Amino acid sequence: MKILITGSNGQLAREIIKESERRNIALDSFDHKSLDITNLKSVREVIKSKRPDVVINCAAYNAVDKAEEDWQMAYLVNGIGPKNLAIACEENDTVLVHYSTDYVFDGQKHSPYTIADDPNPLNMYGKSKLLGERSVQSLSKRYFLIRVSWVFGMGNDTNFAKKVIEWSSKNDVIKVVDDQISSPTYAVDLAKVTLDLIDTGAYGLYHITSPQPCSRYEWAKYILELIGWKGRLVPVKSDEFKTPAIRPGYSFMDSFPIIHTIGYNLPEWKDATKRFIKEIAGGR
Ligand SMILES: NC(=O)c1ccc[n+]([C@@H]2O[C@H](COP(=O)([O-])OP(=O)(O)OC[C@H]3O[C@@H](n4cnc5c(N)ncnc54)[C@H](OP(=O)(O)O)[C@@H]3O)[C@@H](O)[C@H]2O)c1
Repeated sequence: MKILITGSNGQLAREIIKESERRNIALDSFDHKSLDITNLKSVREVIKSKRPDVVINCAAYNAVDKAEEDWQMAYLVNGIGPKNLAIACEENDTVLVHYSTDYVFDGQKHSPYTIADDPNPLNMYGKSKLLGERSVQSLSKRYFLIRVSWVFGMGNDTNFAKKVIEWSSKNDVIKVVDDQISSPTYAVDLAKVTLDLIDTGAYGLYHITSPQPCSRYEWAKYILELIGWKGRLVPVKSDEFKTPAIRPGYSFMDSFPIIHTIGYNLPEWKDATKRFIKEIAGGR
């Protein structure tokens, strides 16, 4: 198997590259500079010349608040980019792996979202990701569409876990919302699951995230306990933090049917967070 990965400097891409090297999988990686997925001509040329068996698209526009104004760029990267990849993959008989988000849901269900639930995004980021989903599903025959939530890893300083650690180094009091509930997804674990899932050939839509829900507050509390922070963590409501983008309150996703497909679920978020903190301390 030969893989081609886009957005190769992102946090998930970096872990997929490491895991592929561990498994001796041949891999061509393209960062934003070397392949802009919004350019159909470049996408076609690269896929035609490299002839990968599988393209893993890790390129994305993830600035949720910025996307409210900069929506055209979000639509281009998250909507048109996957469409370009789907077109080129079909032309070259290549499998496409693409990632989406829990923010395609509106949070009104108040119980875990399954792959059978209809999306109804509340913000421009979610709408742009839904456009990408629909492009992949309508244009690709062989695709894995994987919805994930709260991705964290070493390769991105703006993820929530890294932010909490940064805040703790500068503040004695930290406020975190307790009314946004979903589940963290550790990039290290997601990379392994992605490669195992590709091996199955069981194409389709998946939800892949840690199998227990938590609030942003609970996750921050656990991170701060692990690093031994002595300050005060205060739970607050989303209303207190006015942000340009509205976020769903409850967007936790049920991971069915991943256990039936690859035989296991992602490890629980506390286990993943512990390993991440160890990784930050240089212990992995
Ligand atoms: N992060 C989360 O919490 C989260 C939540 C739900 C879903 N997801 C999804 O999970 C997947 C992986 O996300 P991640 O957290 O690993 O992302 P990330 O760390 O933000 O990386 C995204 C990468 O995409 C690149 N990129 C942006 N525009 C591009 C373009 N036009 N062409 C090629 N590359 C481009 C960026 O490069 P530059 O920085 O150089 O622009 C960056 O290296 C994405 O589909 C994302 O939407 C993420």
